[in-house]
Amino acid sequence: MDFETLVRTRRSVRGYKPDPVPKQVIQEIIDVAKGAPSSMNTQPWNLYVVTGEPLDKIRAGNTERMLAGVKPQRDFPTKEAYEGIHRERQVEIAKQLFAAMGIARDDKEMRQDWVMRGFRQFDAPVSIVLTYDKILEPAAIGQFDLGAISYAICLAAWERGLGTVINGQGVMQTPVVREHAGIPDTQAILTCIAMGYPNDDFSANQVKSTRADEASFVNFVGFDD
Ligand SMILES: Cc1cc2nc3c(=O)[nH]c(=O)nc-3n(C[C@H](O)[C@H](O)[C@H](O)COP(=O)(O)O)c2cc1C
Repeated sequence: MDFETLVRTRRSVRGYKPDPVPKQVIQEIIDVAKGAPSSMNTQPWNLYVVTGEPLDKIRAGNTERMLAGVKPQRDFPTKEAYEGIHRERQVEIAKQLFAAMGIARDDKEMRQDWVMRGFRQFDAPVSIVLTYDKILEPAAIGQFDLGAISYAICLAAWERGLGTVINGQGVMQTPVVREHAGIPDTQAILTCIAMGYPNDDFSANQVKSTRADEASFVNFVGFDD
């Protein structure tokens, strides 16, 4: 696939076939993705590629704690709630996903079901948990670098017929993820990427999210026209 087609066709996948992903394919993906740039070539990422029983335990632990009302516990400060244009965009993608899934606005049960799917990482057969060493705090630059490798993973996976969704929900209960993925206390858990072969019958997988017009976020400076 040429690069433009890859970028223009990729979308987040939230419904997966149960088929396992061969370890060798994941190794290939990571080998490509580690070509991502990082500040001063620090390559500050650690990846935990989790499948099988440990991943099932993470799903179960996340579900149990979320249902019990345990407050999300992240390893770094996060924004509580978006406002303005950012909130509008958050609502828009939620509406697109709910419409595709046939979930009505007032259907609390189905909405809750959807949220719980997120905490189970959409039942993907693989989850790649990304961490950085806490010694890097304040780690905005390191987090940026992990973002770069995350996108590279998503693209390299898509090129191989694999779907992904970068998934904050999957790591909201960090003690659960830390325990079952064997992550030391010296590392901060940033996010995870659910991965697997897309289930083409899962309607949310057809959702193509929108993007703002360049006029609203690009500023050309010093050009003649
Ligand atoms: C840092 C980050 C965290 C995300 N967390 C979630 C999540 O918890 N649940 C979810 O369904 N999607 C999550 N997403 C996926 C975004 O919703 C998705 O990338 C966005 O709507 C654009 O859609 P696209 O990936 O299909 O282009 C996350 C994406 C990023 C980059």
